[in-house]
Amino acid sequence: MPAPHGGRLIDRLVPESKRGRIEEEAEELPRVSVSMEKRKDLENIAYGIYSPLEGPLTQEDYRSVLDRGRLANDVPWTIPIVIDVSEDEASSFREGDDIALVEGGEPFALLHVEEVYPLDHREYAKKVFKTLDPAHPGVARTMEMKPLLVGGPIWLFRETPGKFPRYRLKPKETRLLFRERGWRTIAGFQTRNAPHLGHEYVQKTALAFVDGLFINPLIGRKKPGDFKDEVIIEAYETLLRHYYLRETAVLVTLEMEMRYAGPREAIFHAIVRKNYGCTHFIVGRDHAGVGKYYGPYEAQEAFDEYPDLGITPLFFRSFFYCRRCGGVTNERVCPHPAEYRIEFSGTRIREMLMRGERPPRELMRPEVVDVILRHPNPFVE
Ligand code: ADX
Repeated sequence: MPAPHGGRLIDRLVPESKRGRIEEEAEELPRVSVSMEKRKDLENIAYGIYSPLEGPLTQEDYRSVLDRGRLANDVPWTIPIVIDVSEDEASSFREGDDIALVEGGEPFALLHVEEVYPLDHREYAKKVFKTLDPAHPGVARTMEMKPLLVGGPIWLFRETPGKFPRYRLKPKETRLLFRERGWRTIAGFQTRNAPHLGHEYVQKTALAFVDGLFINPLIGRKKPGDFKDEVIIEAYETLLRHYYLRETAVLVTLEMEMRYAGPREAIFHAIVRKNYGCTHFIVGRDHAGVGKYYGPYEAQEAFDEYPDLGITPLFFRSFFYCRRCGGVTNERVCPHPAEYRIEFSGTRIREMLMRGERPPRELMRPEVVDVILRHPNPFVE
């Protein structure tokens, strides 16, 4: 199993026995309200999912992540994890102070403010998403951020229950699970979708070479038109029941928003799975992409810059169904012309489902289609 990213599994969760005292302390501190998405990021820091981060980035790391896709100490890191605040909020504290982070009226973490520094929205958007187009969901969100960033270590003292608690494991727990199962090589699979046959084939092809498959759907804010979290989970429960071996696959959720940052997000996704204990990470077509902002294999190419990532990417060309082959295949295997192909287009599948039509067996397992159609509206609005 790989060492956690940066060498050590970070743990910024206040032990139960000390929580009462810290909660009292927090009552006296200046408060900053954050969104649920930020709260999840901070939980992920506390649990070690974002090791080696101990808190939102300070300026030197932030600059280095934007400019070179690495922390200041050279450790690969591609997505800035930051907390944005208004001028007004920032006027209630200074560098060196502790502040209480609050979500939904509930204080949940202390942040030791090492630095307050300005955010250049356009630079952030351009470097992370490679575009300034406000139609890109990540760019749109960036432009809404408040003008200052606060960086420094956190201590988390109140956890959210999690959307699907039985599937929400911490890296400590997944590492133990892999060991108990005797898996030495584990392929991590990121997804934001209900599974079609293309997803299944990427996973199963990887499984031919590794001991275990770590199916790790992302649970959290996504763009309109993406599948709702509960549909993704029910779809995977069904798929696993009918088409997978219990001995070789496990389903664990990751509570984190989608950023749609394509290549940069693919590297970040791999780092997170390394922290869970994966040795390999699956990257297929247009990983974490949206619209036509990134080339279909640009996310795979991004790995060229990171020979020191510490997790091995497994690249796949796009899978499709070939009527001549009579099965799922891809261009490295199938010699037949395009007219025989049925592509696994998420958009097409979505359009069929919205019309109440059943995607054919060649695209999606009938049991998965049943799950989706049971939901009156399976998509994020
Ligand atoms: S993502 O935004 O989370 O990347 P999605 O859930 O669709 O979207 O994809 C999960 C993983 O499966 C990604 O690595 C993606 O590249 C891969 N993938 C999706 N569809 C295909 C396909 N038809 N062929 C090969 N890989 C695919």
